[in-house]
Amino acid sequence: MAEIEFESEEILREIEEAPSPAALEEIRIRALGRRGALTLAMRELRALDAEARPSAGAALNAAREAITAALGAAEARLSRTVLEERLKRERADTTLPVSFAPEGRIHPISQAFDEVVAIFGEMGFRVVEGPHIEEDFYNFTALNIPPEHPARQEHDTFYFEPRADGTRRLLRTHTSPMQVRTMLKEKPPLRIIVPGRTFRCDHDATHSPMFHQVEGLVVDRETHMGHLKGCLIDFCRAYFGLEDLAVRFRPSYFPFTEPSAEVDIGCSRKGGELKIGKGGDWLEILGCGMVHPRVLENCGIDPGLYQGFAFGMGIERVAMLKYGIPDLRAFYDGDWRWLKHHGFLPLDIPSLVRGSLAGP
Ligand code: DAH
Repeated sequence: MAEIEFESEEILREIEEAPSPAALEEIRIRALGRRGALTLAMRELRALDAEARPSAGAALNAAREAITAALGAAEARLSRTVLEERLKRERADTTLPVSFAPEGRIHPISQAFDEVVAIFGEMGFRVVEGPHIEEDFYNFTALNIPPEHPARQEHDTFYFEPRADGTRRLLRTHTSPMQVRTMLKEKPPLRIIVPGRTFRCDHDATHSPMFHQVEGLVVDRETHMGHLKGCLIDFCRAYFGLEDLAVRFRPSYFPFTEPSAEVDIGCSRKGGELKIGKGGDWLEILGCGMVHPRVLENCGIDPGLYQGFAFGMGIERVAMLKYGIPDLRAFYDGDWRWLKHHGFLPLDIPSLVRGSLAGP
């Protein structure tokens, strides 16, 4: 045999005109596949005379290179066209009205956090967050709860193994350590709220080992009990959407505030049904007080110049009261049917003007 018959023009033309990636692949297989025209032609080289072989081999190699390059170029061209067509097809008209029925729901805890943040945000509070794993100093000592203080027992703390120097880390039992962290880091005036998770070794129908609180702290030169009362009364009325909601401050005790109070809101329990508002009964919803001068001192703030007030509130409790959720444990079950019933639609964003805070 003296010559090999192989024409690449026809193949190159087909490649150039290939209408789709699939057509291109078909041509590639026809030319370069195991039984492709060029592959078979290459196989015939072996049968050629020794003198004819180098030039025929070079010609076939050149043809292979030309075909491979053409395939590459065509592939790039086609993928660009495919993308362009897809973009045309999938273009979204962002001016269309929103009409979708999302399957997911906002958890009532998240919703309550959002509502509380929206109300205090309007009053000029800033949100800060802090670590769940906390040092004993921030969770207790700096808050005027020294090691032998009985309040430590009440907190049912989850402790970590002690370190070599005897100090222990713990899961924060309340959001109050963020008062300390903020006062140590920033200068007054301060106005912060701290939504977050808290942990206590306690588990029954009304206690969960993990629960949520919102802490509040205001420190300024002339902060007094009147500010505390006004702020929390406004909050309760906005949160429950009742302008005339009765709010009562009952003297209490917390190591980190002096004086301290617990806040009750008015309710009625007629016929076994709990109704928030008028009725002569009371429901406790949060703890508060004027920041203890020793706590200010522990945080490097001069109690001769500054005063502050603070409060702490359990989110589960206010969420249960507002949304009529009877069982605490259901919050953490992750039961889709429960969430579908008690959860909120993603677009139902709380704000003072949307009405979800101000009631019906
Ligand atoms: N940390 C308290 C608790 O978990 C709640 C609390 C009460 C926080 C009074 C405060 C406060 O900031 O002033 O029970």
